[in-house]
Amino acid sequence: ETVEGQFSIIGELKNIFKKSLIKSYPNFNIKMVISSPSKSGDYQCNSAMGLSKILKESGTKVSPAEVAKTLIKNIPANSIIEPLSTGDHGFINITLSQKFVVSQIASMFLEGVRPPKVDKKRVVIDFSSPNIAKEMHVGHLRSTIIGDSLARLLEYLGHDVVRLNHVGDWGTQFGMLLAHLNDKYPDYLNNPLPIGDLQAFYKESKKRFDEDAEFKKRAYAAVVELQAHNPDQTKRWQLICDTSRKEFQKIYDRLDIKLTERGESFYQDSMTKIIEDLKQKNLLVYEEGRYVMFPQKENLNPLTVVKSHGGYTYDTSDIAALCHRLEVEKADWIIYVTDLGQSSHFESLFDCMERAGYIDKNRVRIDHVGFGVVLGENKKRLKTRSGDTIRLVDLLDEGIKKSLDKLIKKNRERILSPEELEQAKTSVAYGCIKYADLSNNRKGDYVFSFDKMLADEGNTAVYILYQYTRAKSIARLANVEPNQLLNYAKNEDIKIEHPNEIKLAKEILKFHDVIQKITEDLVLHPLCEYLHKIATAFSEFYDSCYCVEKDRKTGEVIKVYMHRLLLCEVTANILAKGFDILGIKPVNRM
Ligand code: ARG
Repeated sequence: ETVEGQFSIIGELKNIFKKSLIKSYPNFNIKMVISSPSKSGDYQCNSAMGLSKILKESGTKVSPAEVAKTLIKNIPANSIIEPLSTGDHGFINITLSQKFVVSQIASMFLEGVRPPKVDKKRVVIDFSSPNIAKEMHVGHLRSTIIGDSLARLLEYLGHDVVRLNHVGDWGTQFGMLLAHLNDKYPDYLNNPLPIGDLQAFYKESKKRFDEDAEFKKRAYAAVVELQAHNPDQTKRWQLICDTSRKEFQKIYDRLDIKLTERGESFYQDSMTKIIEDLKQKNLLVYEEGRYVMFPQKENLNPLTVVKSHGGYTYDTSDIAALCHRLEVEKADWIIYVTDLGQSSHFESLFDCMERAGYIDKNRVRIDHVGFGVVLGENKKRLKTRSGDTIRLVDLLDEGIKKSLDKLIKKNRERILSPEELEQAKTSVAYGCIKYADLSNNRKGDYVFSFDKMLADEGNTAVYILYQYTRAKSIARLANVEPNQLLNYAKNEDIKIEHPNEIKLAKEILKFHDVIQKITEDLVLHPLCEYLHKIATAFSEFYDSCYCVEKDRKTGEVIKVYMHRLLLCEVTANILAKGFDILGIKPVNRM
């Protein structure tokens, strides 16, 4: 039996073991794990114990070890694994065959690193989503980085992905902005403010809104006017939005983020219709002048659908946005990326939408991808020294500066051309900011530290980017033509023997399992851990296995180890694919 294509090893091993069981227990869920490094074998099947229990319950007493023996006996002949042995308690240790490992490596070289097969879905992913007239803060940066990376992952898998920026461009904040604008700059329509001023302006109007009841009333009136499409208010609103939009775009351009803006305002007209429908279905409750909707589950907060002055809310636009994504976008999968502080909002939203019959849970998958807070090195919320929120532009600028300092400290400006230095600087700066975020479990808070993220050693972007440049440079050093390597990979009987070659190759083979796992859980840190392991295994391999032997005196190439070049190339391919998913741009020299 020959093996074609690339696939999840765990999935394939489960299939093989399933065949051994098929007649007796077709639905039994085979337990297959990666073996810990100290154990013999690459993978382990832990099902004998479970099966022995099932047999006992049906009256047959068979020990796990005996079950394991029977399992092994019934496994169909295949070229993927070496002959099997049982360990203690019927654990079955599995070693991948040399032939299989080599064929997978060759395939990853010849065909590139192919994604596992999936049922193509239409996915809407809502991320970044800053608020107009407010500065984009580090929480939005997290949403932007995590959301973009998830979108890249799903695109790589072949899904049809819609990236939406659900900007906060509607609602109460505009009431106060417009009311304050009217008082302070009656001539705004002819003379709009730049964003720096808009920030301060936002603060001023918020202060008035909080302190002055009469102002508050006018603010509410202004929102209602805006929501009723009053032309002058609409124009003012448009100008404010444009100013903000330009500032957001600068961040997106720097980080290479693609997004379609579809803010809360987009749903204004459909909101009215949906509210009618909810009223008709008797789902709205009139409470203290507001219309609210209660979720089915107890303990969840109700959604505020219409406020007492008639205005709509964040909840209302989320209801309308969800309907739009289901009905118009025809999404099979909807993902929201925000801080964990909004978990209960989304729980209520999903629950209410199910209650209203808008969501068919059997057809659509909906996820709230929540993340923790960004902390400073003092373990408190990341702030400037004066206690203000950090502007993202400043943060990115600082990253660029620190990354350049670091490269210069390592004397890289002597080795790299000015263009290469420029590329390395940006690659490292943005790469390390993204990587530091993504390599932490998103559900936890994470400590933002340039020193840590720019470290040469450890699970950092710098370390992995550097190993990538080493892997990339080898074929160049060996003067091997791409065609030579191609022919070799296609035709030769390849052998990998050195323990560090084998370790690297087997680490590489885990790629598809990692991809599958992170797609299920919508987390990215396991991918980062995987890339770090590859980089470490590569470094060990590189230090112990010559790829090219050169004459000491003449520098002439005496011998090229083609199978090692192949491993270098595939390592580079894997790392490049990983970087691509994480939104990191590697360089060939740094
Ligand atoms: N604008 C919101 C905020 O800054 C995030 C919006 C997230 N998306 C959504 N559909 N509610 O917190």
